[in-house]
Amino acid sequence: MEPAMSPNGGSVQERQSLQERFGSRLAVNPHFTRKAVSYQGNRSVPGLRWMKYKEGFSRTFVERLIDDRQPTDILDPFAGIGTTPLVAAGMGKSATGIEIMPVGVLAGNGIAQAANGVSKAMLEAAGSELIGRVTSEEPAPAEFAFPHVSITEAAFPEPTEAAIAKARQWLANTDDDPTRTLLNLACMTILESVSYTRKDGQYLRWDYRSGRTLRARVNKGPIQSFQGALGSRLFEMVQDIDILKQEYGGGYPEFITGSSLELLRDLPDGRFDMVITSPPYANRYDYTRTYALELAWLDLDQKGFASLRQRMLSATVENKTKLEWLRRVYCDNQTLLNESLGMYRNQGAIREVLAILTERIDELGNRHVIRLIEGYFLEMAVIVAELGRVTRPGGTVIMVNDNVQYHGEEVPVDLILSDFAEQSGFVCEKIWMLPRGKGNSSQQMRRFGRREIRKCVYKWVRASD
Ligand SMILES: C[S@@+](CC[C@H](N)C(=O)[O-])C[C@H]1O[C@@H](n2cnc3c(N)ncnc32)[C@H](O)[C@@H]1O
Repeated sequence: MEPAMSPNGGSVQERQSLQERFGSRLAVNPHFTRKAVSYQGNRSVPGLRWMKYKEGFSRTFVERLIDDRQPTDILDPFAGIGTTPLVAAGMGKSATGIEIMPVGVLAGNGIAQAANGVSKAMLEAAGSELIGRVTSEEPAPAEFAFPHVSITEAAFPEPTEAAIAKARQWLANTDDDPTRTLLNLACMTILESVSYTRKDGQYLRWDYRSGRTLRARVNKGPIQSFQGALGSRLFEMVQDIDILKQEYGGGYPEFITGSSLELLRDLPDGRFDMVITSPPYANRYDYTRTYALELAWLDLDQKGFASLRQRMLSATVENKTKLEWLRRVYCDNQTLLNESLGMYRNQGAIREVLAILTERIDELGNRHVIRLIEGYFLEMAVIVAELGRVTRPGGTVIMVNDNVQYHGEEVPVDLILSDFAEQSGFVCEKIWMLPRGKGNSSQQMRRFGRREIRKCVYKWVRASD
């Protein structure tokens, strides 16, 4: 029989042998639908509905996993708006989340404050003061104007710019207490709805009225006023706050701000018996672009954007290698880093894909996808090795991630990361596939045919030492 070939005529041997190794552990799980796993399930969930974080988990997904395993100490090293730590803490567990984007950090902290601190009366009183300032005639001094960066310029209609400046002035002059955190969050969560932009998959789309000369423009229809949107959000927050106290009031999760590539190191061996997480996918998705308005609201300047993008897990074509930086992070003890580097360098399926893409480099839409794949897997090797260290024997890691394909070459992220996991002390028990995978782009479909790639939930159990 002829050996199978990849769409580019390259070898698929390494990927096939991974498929054979893990094949019996791959199964469709009808419970893990897109809605159950993703943020879609949170549309009416108190607290989590405030910030439309499309990359998030649903509350029920986390609840089910915790109910099933009954862990005591839970970690999410890519916490987003804090779904895992918030739900876990609400269920009376000790919960830790690490997140690098200030947008998620503010959302997680805001919800936790609402569940454990701020009273309904306090929120109502401060909220009406803020609305009073926003609707007052007196303009705010120029220093409180929205701190635009190039990709947010012209995002708001003029009256909205003026209202935003008044809100920023009010927040700046209010004590930095939990109530302020909640009102800051309220303002941040409405920015998209009062702007000419729309988060749309990989892109921030622009309404035709923005005056921006962009190709992909949309018509958002009526755009809400700042005070209208703020009033609605505050109403929702006031409605939710007592429910939140019942549902997430079990304790305050520990939120750690920064990169897991650096911060996991500080956590003790065997500290957790469950990890529920979803890292960025290797799909070129740029969080700093999608959340540009929110990051600028939080005072990230142009340099701050570039630096945040580089510090995040490599998932875009702009990311440069972090190897030298990792060597500095691990300067006092390079063992785990060297082991991770070994796992990454000896991983046959990665080498196979990289060899084909390198050979076809001139045909790639963007040649830096090669650097993206290299960076992603090197960094994920470090993350998986650290998870092997901080998870106690018998403990479980649940990870949600999508496979990707570039130039018709499928990258089996699920199998590669599970291979890293098995070298880091875990047994890969299951790789559950969502009933529906992800189709390829129409451009790739024309060239390489229609191919659906897996979206998966992995279950790794830490073996005894
Ligand atoms: C798929 S989202 C996780 C969303 C989360 N499950 C939730 O429910 O909100 C991945 C998250 O990883 C964060 N992230 C990216 N690089 C990181 C890093 N180096 N350290 C910590 N977090 C990082 C992103 O900002 C993003 O919020």
